[in-house]
Amino acid sequence: MNITKVHALSGEMTVPGDKSISHRSVMFGALAKGTTTVQNFLQGADCLSSIACFKAMGINIENDGTQVLIHGKGLHGLSNPESILDAGNSGTTTRLISGILAAQPFTTTLTGDASIQKRPMGRIITPLSMMGAQIESLSGNGCAPLKITGAHLHGIQYSSPVASAQVKSAILLAGLYADGETRVTEPALSRNHTELMLSAFGAKIISGVGDVTRENCGSASATIFPAEELYAQDIIVPGDISSAAYFIVVGLITPNSEITIKNVGINPTRDGIIRVCQAMGADLVLENIRSAGREPVADITVRTSSLHGTVIEGAMIPTLIDEIPAIAVLACFAEGTTTIRDAQELKVKESNRIDVMVKQLSAMGADIEATEDGMIIRGGRALHGTVVDSHMDHRIAMSFAIAGMNSDGITEIPDAGCVDISYPGFFEDLQKLQY
Ligand code: S3P
Repeated sequence: MNITKVHALSGEMTVPGDKSISHRSVMFGALAKGTTTVQNFLQGADCLSSIACFKAMGINIENDGTQVLIHGKGLHGLSNPESILDAGNSGTTTRLISGILAAQPFTTTLTGDASIQKRPMGRIITPLSMMGAQIESLSGNGCAPLKITGAHLHGIQYSSPVASAQVKSAILLAGLYADGETRVTEPALSRNHTELMLSAFGAKIISGVGDVTRENCGSASATIFPAEELYAQDIIVPGDISSAAYFIVVGLITPNSEITIKNVGINPTRDGIIRVCQAMGADLVLENIRSAGREPVADITVRTSSLHGTVIEGAMIPTLIDEIPAIAVLACFAEGTTTIRDAQELKVKESNRIDVMVKQLSAMGADIEATEDGMIIRGGRALHGTVVDSHMDHRIAMSFAIAGMNSDGITEIPDAGCVDISYPGFFEDLQKLQY
């Protein structure tokens, strides 16, 4: 894919459904009694991996591309898959399904692509083993393939060293099957879609911070009680703020632009990008704030803005962890310095996102340096196109696409097809805003 400079962007659009919520709708639907319907399901490769895994465990799932129907068989209805489960590129599939497999009366092997086989699984192996499951990293390096032998589980009180919704969710899902209550505490509150959606399905969950607001995002705990039954739900998935992020950023940095992104999820555990843009002086307006089930949703309008640097750190990080590559691009177009700290988790995402962003934005002329736990960006330098290696990481490819639209010359992204992981149609949607 070759990208060249654009001189204006405008229009109204929607982005595909939220990836985290789509995954969970399949998983919880599979464990519920009855048929769960899902509208605006993300038809990205990651969520299709979740569907494939549950089909392999005997769940009938109908997906016509607009609506997904999951004919759940209840908490004890999964069957032993005939072959190895393949999570593809999806960390959410791998870690959340592990929590479910930990409680099943069979042994399963779960793996994924080359990137998944490098991502740390010790963070779920430790707590799920404490609960009684047997989990082995078959290559002995703490990564997938994982051989998981389910067991009768015990509730635990677990203090996670990382703020990770994938870790928290794996433990909570195992906790559905445990013989007592299970509590997970994390150093800062990670996305709470599992807590919101599992309680809608009928699970009893207490969230340590009560109703989550912008003000109380901080160290947090969630407690789950053993469940007898989950009940099918009708789910409407909001647009993914992590996908909207590229359009927010490109609308702010491209001259003469105004973009409205309708129906975007703005859960306070995910809305850090909005707060960062506002702190940098962005012309960003939220309108028509409403709910989709238990998730807040809004229409977001951005206009070309003069931006200044900011500091992003602490409890804010989990609320924008997937948006940091896009924010790094934003910071290149802001006056002054942007410092990102406490974001060492970026090193263990689909690629090492600190290294990959810093090396390649530097190659485009940016003044950016990597630190142990983030990056420092001194904005205001003109960027020029180059050949970008996405490392097959969807968020890297999308970040460099929007950087390229504001750079001189040609930005070439050879393996841009990886955007299909979370945003099929990304380049077409960008194209529609050009005139
Ligand atoms: C996700 C949680 C995040 C995020 C990932 C999706 C989820 O990971 O990076 O893209 O759906 O729970 P961690 O919470 O493990 O950081």
